[in-house]
Amino acid sequence: MEYDLALSGRLYIGGELVDGAIGIKDGKIVAVKKQIPGALDYGSKIILPARTDPHVHLRDPGFTQKEDFFTGTLSAAFGGVSCVLDMPNTDPFVYRYSHLEEKEHVASRKAVVDYGLYVGMSNNVLDEKALKRAPALKIFMAPTTGGVVNELDDVALNYLLNIMADYPQVTVFHAEDSRMVKEGPAGDLKEHMRNRPSEAEEKAVERLIWTGKDLHIAHITSEAGVEALKKKSGQTAEVTPSHLFLTMDSDLENLAYAKVNPPVRTKRDRDALWGALRDGRIDMVSSDHAPHTIAEKEEFETSPSGIPGVETALPLILASVKKGLITFERAVEVLIEAPARRFCPQKGSIEEGKDADLIVVDMKDIREIRADELHSKAGWTPFEGMDAVFPQDVYVRGGIVIKNGNFEGERGFGRNPWF
Ligand code: DOR
Ligand code: ZN
Repeated sequence: MEYDLALSGRLYIGGELVDGAIGIKDGKIVAVKKQIPGALDYGSKIILPARTDPHVHLRDPGFTQKEDFFTGTLSAAFGGVSCVLDMPNTDPFVYRYSHLEEKEHVASRKAVVDYGLYVGMSNNVLDEKALKRAPALKIFMAPTTGGVVNELDDVALNYLLNIMADYPQVTVFHAEDSRMVKEGPAGDLKEHMRNRPSEAEEKAVERLIWTGKDLHIAHITSEAGVEALKKKSGQTAEVTPSHLFLTMDSDLENLAYAKVNPPVRTKRDRDALWGALRDGRIDMVSSDHAPHTIAEKEEFETSPSGIPGVETALPLILASVKKGLITFERAVEVLIEAPARRFCPQKGSIEEGKDADLIVVDMKDIREIRADELHSKAGWTPFEGMDAVFPQDVYVRGGIVIKNGNFEGERGFGRNPWF
């Protein structure tokens, strides 16, 4: 047979839905045609490229009571994600090549979807051997759960960005000004927000944009942050569903479920984020999947910051199309096309030569999110009861991973294209 697999349905190509068929060989899309005889026919269901999630914390090695590479990538697959980029704040913190090798050893045996491994910096050490095998570099500008802060003054920041200009790897910043972040106690979401004010984000974003260098800003959370993005010149920025769907006034069974750094803020901030996501000041959506155990989240004051979300990001945003919060085309751009273009260009579009990473969705199949139906080890979600469009089937490099909502993949199938 000419193809290993062929699928037909409503294909999303060049910003439009068209009836067509996709021929797949050796994990790649090798043909996109009107028809392919014998193709598995999805009828009027939509076939989209799968999503790359540029920001997840899979906790492995070191914190596998919270998540591991199997459960984290399983959760990703159920959310239509075929590639996750894992942050370096595991144990050991990944900033040396040996740390990367150790994580690769673990991940390659457990991952069910593709992945890349960030490197970080500790004590301003940039290990260029490690960097070459990573999709991106992560810099924490302020203290946060498990992060290693690098206080870069303007000279150091420019020096680093000049070095990074010689690499294809993206430089990603957790943008909060550490001088404006208080690490004192917080009893609720409002106090947590006071400890980490939007001015801290605004200052850090302004500083980063002012460099004029190529970089990416993680999780924008505020109207002030969005304003500072007006001056961006080629830089990119992301927002998370936590900040798009939750506020400090959210009615949750446990407020600690919405404790995250940078914090969820006011309705006005949330609305500004939606505006910026629609108009392009914010380029893409990352989940910032940051699971912690239910026990750790029991007490607000002592609970670590972080919210799981790799499984619910695409489903929540697709369900928002029906509510008029975003167009279908813009949703596909910010969830799928933009993250792939920036971080993983062999994925993210239905085109000959690209990886055959595909998801099948029925936009009318809206369901409520239930924590006990999700696959992260966390076992909780602040998005309980919210509307979602989960993919029915998920393919990674032509291999079926989710079929009719059931896991049909295998541990260790996931590959790291950078390593
Ligand atoms: O809330 C957060 N949790 N923010 C971060 O920057 C780190 C993350 C984590 O790893 O738990
Ligand atoms: Zn994060």
